[in-house]
Amino acid sequence: MPITLAFDIYGTLLDTQGVVNVLEKMVGNEATQFAQTWRNKQLEYSFRRGLMKKYQQFSVCINDSLEYTCAFYKIPLTAEQKKILLDAYLELPPFNDVKECLKSVNSSEFKLYAFSNGSKDVIENLLGAADIQDFFIDIISVDDVKSFKPDPAVYQHFMKTSGSHGDNAWLISSNPFDVIGAISAGMRSVWIQRSKEAIYDPWGIEPTTTLSTLLDLKENILNY
Ligand code: LAC
Repeated sequence: MPITLAFDIYGTLLDTQGVVNVLEKMVGNEATQFAQTWRNKQLEYSFRRGLMKKYQQFSVCINDSLEYTCAFYKIPLTAEQKKILLDAYLELPPFNDVKECLKSVNSSEFKLYAFSNGSKDVIENLLGAADIQDFFIDIISVDDVKSFKPDPAVYQHFMKTSGSHGDNAWLISSNPFDVIGAISAGMRSVWIQRSKEAIYDPWGIEPTTTLSTLLDLKENILNY
């Protein structure tokens, strides 16, 4: 039976710091911090919307958190600048190891899905811009269940839709909250530690495996 792989998108396959170049022209040397605050706030807004049962698509969290970040740094960007940034978020660059990894698991031993907080049309756009859309059988979005990661319902939805079960369903994610969510819902999960500084949440719920690069993914999953 093939192993089902659920690839997280933002921060795992695509670099959310990829907007820094564009931001530098607008906010100067605060660009890296600005991009990080924007990203963190997107996630906070998704968690809060999930808890409050006030679901809106992830693009709303991205828009609202951009407004927050402008206010936080006291940088009043123009409507045109915000549009440029939001457009850049629809074309985030893939990390260097992504294509080679996807090629390596592009075999009958695996079934590949994109699994994201982003809505299907947005993820389709992102995968197309990164030229990696053809590797995936399908995109499974939390939008179908109107909640966000790490609600157990979204991981159950993934397993149901992909026809996979606990031991055979692996989430691949750089986001610790996502890894913990998947494992709590009965999946396996690889934490991709995208930088040495990245900290895994000390909740006592460990990843099945931790890797610093996607290039080691195939071997580690097959040998598990
Ligand atoms: C995603 C967020 C968690 O792509 O990064 O689902």
